[in-house]
Formats: sequence, C-alpha cells, structure tokens
Amino acid sequence: MAVFCSHSPEETLLWAEEYAKSLRGGDVVLLDGPMGAGKTVLAKGIARGLGIGAEVTSPTYAYLNSYEGRLFHFDCYRVTSERQAVELGFLDYFDAGGICLVEWSENIKGLLPENVKRVAISGSGDEIREIRS
Ligand SMILES: Nc1ncnc2c1ncn2[C@@H]1O[C@H](COP(=O)(O)OP(=O)(O)OP(=O)(O)O)[C@@H](O)[C@H]1O
Ligand SMILES: [Mg+2]
Repeated sequence: MAVFCSHSPEETLLWAEEYAKSLRGGDVVLLDGPMGAGKTVLAKGIARGLGIGAEVTSPTYAYLNSYEGRLFHFDCYRVTSERQAVELGFLDYFDAGGICLVEWSENIKGLLPENVKRVAISGSGDEIREIRS
C-alpha cells in the first residue's frame, strides 16, 4: 500500500491525475473517506488524467454521472438499500466497460464486484490528507 500526504486540493488533483494512468476500462475504484475528505476531488483528478474535458461535479442529486461513457462516478451516500441501487441500474454500469468510481460504497456492499481497487483519503477541513492506494 502506498501513502501520499496531500497539503492542498491541487496536490490531490495532481496525485489523482497520475493515479488515473494505472486504471483500465472495467476497473471499479472505491473512493473511501469521511464527508468532506476529498473523494470528489479525487474523482475530478482521475477524470482529468483520463483526458475527460467535462468538469466533474458531485453527483449528490443524480446518484451517478457518466462521462463520455468512459467514466462513471457514483455517489451512494443517499442510496438507502441495495434493491434501490439495482433499480437505479448500478449493476449495468459495472459491466459497461468504463472505469467506475464509487463514493460511499459501504451502502451497496453486496452489489460490488469481487475485484475492486480502493483509494482511501483521510481528514477534512484544513487537515493534511493521507491518500492510501
Ligand atoms: N488536501 C486536500 N485534498 C482534497 N481536498 C481538500 C484538501 N484540503 C482541503 N480540501 C477541501 O476539502 C473539500 C473536499 O470536498 P469533496 O467534495 O471532494 O469531499 P467528499 O469526500 O467528496 O465529500 P462527500 O462525502 O460529502 O461527497 C473541498 O472543499 C476541498 O477544497
Ligand atoms: Mg463527494
């Protein structure tokens, strides 16, 4: 496991751009960490690293955003049951060939594929973030 200390959102973006190079279509990456840690900042950086032009925004009201069919960004914070997630079509996205980034994956634990990658980010507010991958 690698640990990177990030002192700013910019450093997190740059780390994530670099990390994106290790990802392949079909990869499912769990973005772990408390509220406000920087999971969505990580997603923005990964999108940049993949050369996606659109700005990644938090899908809090949409559950899931698709970027060019190559990157799917899930926010499961408000998902209340795995049944709801199935009804939202989550399983189809795991098999759609794009890279899946999942925030609050603990809410859909039973639906996750067997092989996942994990990036954990600690802290909130002004704290230095530790990014583990
Ligand atoms: N080193 C850092 N890395 C990332 N974000 C940082 C850092 N330092 C401060 N921040 C700030 O922390 C906030 C992280 O917000 P972000 O929306 O990415 O969190 P999140 O983990 O997705 O939260 P949520 O669970 O609510 O979706 C941003 O306002 C960002 O500017
Ligand atoms: Mg978020």
